[in-house]
Amino acid sequence: MTLTVGVLGTGIMGAAMARNLIKAGHTVRVWNRSADKAEPLADDGAVVAPSPAEAVRDADVVLTMLYDGAAVRDVMREAFPAVKTGAAWVQSTTVSLEDVDALAAAAAEHGLAFYDAPVLGTRQPAEAGQLTVLAAGAEDRRDIVTPVFEAVGARTVWLESPGAATRLKLVANSWVLALTHAGAETLSLAEALGVDPDKFLELIAGGPLDNGYLRGKVGLVRGDQLSPASFAVTTAEKDARLIAAAGRQHGVRLDLAEAGAERFRRAAELGHGDKDMAASYYASFDK
Ligand SMILES: NC(=O)c1ccc[n+]([C@@H]2O[C@H](COP(=O)([O-])OP(=O)(O)OC[C@H]3O[C@@H](n4cnc5c(N)ncnc54)[C@H](OP(=O)(O)O)[C@@H]3O)[C@@H](O)[C@H]2O)c1
Repeated sequence: MTLTVGVLGTGIMGAAMARNLIKAGHTVRVWNRSADKAEPLADDGAVVAPSPAEAVRDADVVLTMLYDGAAVRDVMREAFPAVKTGAAWVQSTTVSLEDVDALAAAAAEHGLAFYDAPVLGTRQPAEAGQLTVLAAGAEDRRDIVTPVFEAVGARTVWLESPGAATRLKLVANSWVLALTHAGAETLSLAEALGVDPDKFLELIAGGPLDNGYLRGKVGLVRGDQLSPASFAVTTAEKDARLIAAAGRQHGVRLDLAEAGAERFRRAAELGHGDKDMAASYYASFDK
């Protein structure tokens, strides 16, 4: 099925997703707040729109991949009047649980079929069309969102209803962020104690403590390859705060998420906000 898809937000993830939608043969209209990040997509075959409303006009599916819930609310406020009734809205930005409820209600008010559809995977899987989509939304429009999920992802995990996908996403990110900080702190401790980090990596090699993600993130710091980011420090801080708040609201104390958010804040304060979140490493030092 060939669809017209309006993509709002062409940052790290949105641009890659838009390119894979084009490769799958869909008509893709893109908008980004900073036009310079949307314009290169014209070379791939996207129509670059001057406003959110122009991007979603005639769209069968609207895809939002913005920074946070507030950005989605603001951008969709501009887009709603132009979206055709009955279109589907795939909301892939990582947002809070309250945001999902509010966005689903706004979708219903404007006659759109809402899909809570956060993704797992970072820049490289996004570019390769290998994301995992966590999807929850009405049964009756799954036929038009499935080709979108197939274009951007390798796997779609369907969940019962909007909110369920974001709950699973926050749980998964709790694990990812904790691993990121554990690697960053372990590397900084090894260096401070004069322990060769390779000795530590050899020690755990092949055993239950070994971890490909740890090796990847530690490698980025040691190889000075933190830019361009796959997942920026500032975005990771936003997610850490969403996770900590979700825990608090549900009676769970998440000390690692709270402390991790502070590490990301300090790393950003030290000038590493745009770097990959492995730059949590720099929060181990005063400057
Ligand atoms: N990177 C990852 O590994 C990853 C993985 C899974 C999920 N996510 C989630 O996916 C979303 C996008 O992440 P990303 O890594 O692609 O981030 P990004 O590269 O920073 O892109 C963020 C996008 O949001 C736009 N934006 C921010 N504030 C806005 C506002 N107030 N109004 C309008 N547009 C606004 C930005 O526009 P400008 O270009 O004008 O700033 C940009 O297009 C986030 O929710 C993130 O948590 C990221």
